[in-house]
Amino acid sequence: MKTLVIGASGQVGAQLEGALRARGHEVIATHRGRPASGTEPLDLRDEPAVARLLRRIRAEAVFCPAGATHVDGCEEDPAAARAANVTGPLTAAEAAGPVPFVYFSTEYVFDGERGPYHEGDRPNPLSVYGRTKLEAEQALAARFPRAVVVRTCGVFGPEPQGKNFVYQLRARLSRGERMRVPADQVSTPTYGPDLARACVDLVEGGAAGVVHVAGPIALSRAALAALACRALGLPESLLDPVPTAALGQKARRPLRAGLLVERLRALGIAAPRPPAEGLAELARHLAGLQS
Ligand SMILES: NC(=O)c1ccc[n+]([C@@H]2O[C@H](COP(=O)([O-])OP(=O)(O)OC[C@H]3O[C@@H](n4cnc5c(N)ncnc54)[C@H](OP(=O)(O)O)[C@@H]3O)[C@@H](O)[C@H]2O)c1
Repeated sequence: MKTLVIGASGQVGAQLEGALRARGHEVIATHRGRPASGTEPLDLRDEPAVARLLRRIRAEAVFCPAGATHVDGCEEDPAAARAANVTGPLTAAEAAGPVPFVYFSTEYVFDGERGPYHEGDRPNPLSVYGRTKLEAEQALAARFPRAVVVRTCGVFGPEPQGKNFVYQLRARLSRGERMRVPADQVSTPTYGPDLARACVDLVEGGAAGVVHVAGPIALSRAALAALACRALGLPESLLDPVPTAALGQKARRPLRAGLLVERLRALGIAAPRPPAEGLAELARHLAGLQS
């Protein structure tokens, strides 16, 4: 297939590009601010440019992990968040025509009162980020029922920009700095390469609608940090578990969140591995980069 990955300079996009190429698919890839090898520039907020690129490329499948992902940043600029997370992706879905279109959403569409959540559970986002993602989900379902909405959460793994939680932890702790980690935010952390592989499986299998793709174990951010310390040989004693409220973040976070993956399994697709396995693979990847 000729595929397009919008946002291939990001964590999930880079993994998707790798997974698609590994299956023998052609990939055209875009970035916004941080060019990666062979990517073309595209800003989802520039709707005419989005429509032009999609019509020029005529991809047979479009993956759109791009968007405004900085949760507190979305709170500060809701209009920019909506343009990147709602309007731009909808323009892309429209211009892509009747081909598989994969949009990436989040556990933040839920309020975190009663997670982990099934696809059919009632959303109730607490933040601008979560509200923009839910708005896009609903608009896609209404206008493009064949679109796939992949909800995921807590993605970690090899990443070109090295900014996910595990990289931040590794950078801070290896400098001997202490790090505060929320003890009351529970999620189902997801190993990025497994997420990417499952997304390619979904498209190859002709899936549609909302599908949760997440790790199989619910645990707090502090517990994940402790696991990461063990996998990467970092001093766990530098972790300071604190309540989320103590972090003074702009956007509210769902506390008991996480996503259940029965639908993914029912489609015959393997769920992402438990975090300890993903962290062990990430540790081998990072050790390989150093040697
Ligand atoms: N990471 C997680 O834990 C997580 C959890 C739940 C859901 N998700 C969703 O999964 C998707 C991928 O997340 P990620 O972790 O890969 O995010 P990321 O690393 O922040 O990457 C975001 C990507 O979007 C691009 N981008 C940002 N604004 C854009 C715009 N206006 N127009 C076009 N491209 C734009 C970025 O390009 P540049 O870097 O070149 O500017 C980058 O390629 C997102 O939709 C996110 O909401 C992620």
